[in-house]
Amino acid sequence: MTPVTRPAPLDDIDLSDIEFWSRPSAERHAAFARLRAQPAPVFFTEPDLGPIPSGPGYYALVRHADVVEASRNPQVFASEPSAVSIPDMPEGFGEFFGSMINVDDPRHARLRRIVSRGFTPRMLARLEDDVQRQAERIVAELEQTGPCDFVAHAAARLPLVVICEMMGIPERHHRMVFENSNIVLAGHDRDYLGDDIDTALGRLLTAGSELAGLLSELAAERRAHPTNDLTSALVNANIDGESLTDAELGSFFVLLAVAGNETTRNAISHGLKLLTLHPEQRDLWWSDFEAHAATAVEEIIRHASPVVWMRRTVTRDHEMNGHHYRAGDKAVLYYASANRDEAVFDDPHRFDITRTPNPHLGFGGPGPHFCLGAHLARREITVMFRELHRRLPTIHSTGKPERLVSNFVNGIKAMPCSF
Ligand code: HEM
Repeated sequence: MTPVTRPAPLDDIDLSDIEFWSRPSAERHAAFARLRAQPAPVFFTEPDLGPIPSGPGYYALVRHADVVEASRNPQVFASEPSAVSIPDMPEGFGEFFGSMINVDDPRHARLRRIVSRGFTPRMLARLEDDVQRQAERIVAELEQTGPCDFVAHAAARLPLVVICEMMGIPERHHRMVFENSNIVLAGHDRDYLGDDIDTALGRLLTAGSELAGLLSELAAERRAHPTNDLTSALVNANIDGESLTDAELGSFFVLLAVAGNETTRNAISHGLKLLTLHPEQRDLWWSDFEAHAATAVEEIIRHASPVVWMRRTVTRDHEMNGHHYRAGDKAVLYYASANRDEAVFDDPHRFDITRTPNPHLGFGGPGPHFCLGAHLARREITVMFRELHRRLPTIHSTGKPERLVSNFVNGIKAMPCSF
């Protein structure tokens, strides 16, 4: 008799258990490979979070094809009530965290139209000079400092200063933006959130309200005295007569402070770690920086997948890739797994700075929520590595990265470097 091949049991994989996310990266990726090999998306239950209702559980979408198709069908796979948390957000959170990433059309289209003013080719061209200037300054200071924590002294600094300058936030507030954005994206990390869920929820709300409050003060100033920053463009109506309310501006800034800050920081830190672990890839890139820059940056984003997932909620009964979803089901789109899907990427765990094509989903799948800052992020990562290559070509990490405890962000809190 021919033996029946059964998929390996999955009892040891619980994506809802934070312990899973503390395992080494190779173990997590091996688990995702087993989930991808299942005939249907695997269902996970939600843990009891005390004050937050625990919710009905969710399907893990781990294959590239599923993530792409769900992303391009927002009528069925909706971003409301929340794309960024698996449990529905507790009451009171919508005020600061109810940004465009968590809403669908027509509200999403209106918000995206308005905030896109900040991402026009003209705005981006102006920002690019800023990115260059700041990267030069940061790498020059890093050289002065000598061996140190790469995250604090380099990776975290560039995205923060770029977002703050873009919005017109005075330098004296940059530290507060940094600290509060760390809290908002702290995942399950006790260093930022304290030891229990009530403390964590309190800290999250305070961080959101401080960021929104800062923008509300700035908005009042820019309404009276507009400048050429993005805040001025967002709060003053343009020819279409559209502008953001104070509440919309506040939650947009909370989104920018985290979406544009932590993500890019982690991509840069992972980039240095990957180049250290794969010196032959570094030698290749350094041998002709410009020739390899575009593909190297995409490969860093694919391999690191700084944003691990986004959630969708199914609006009506629907069949997708052979699986039947019911209205109300939650689906979690695991970009980190789609980016290692062997059906799409040859030798998916290999870090290959020349990989082409590289249809990774690190910035999201094709759809209305595709990362608004993708161009800016690519630019920041490129410029940072160009400066490192130019001034500190021997830079490398000298110890294990200290990882953020989170299932949502593939974060590095600290990582020693030398050159
Ligand atoms: C390597 C860096 C980055 C990564 C990996 C990343 C990843 C993502 C992902 C996965 C999404 C969700 C896509 C979806 O739901 O389909 C997203 C949305 C978004 N990102 Fe990024 N991002 C990065 C950098 C940035 C930067 C620099 C900015 C802004 C300055 C930014 C602003 C946004 C915004 C505003 C959204 C929401 C778009 C919407 O809902 O329409 N991101 N990003």
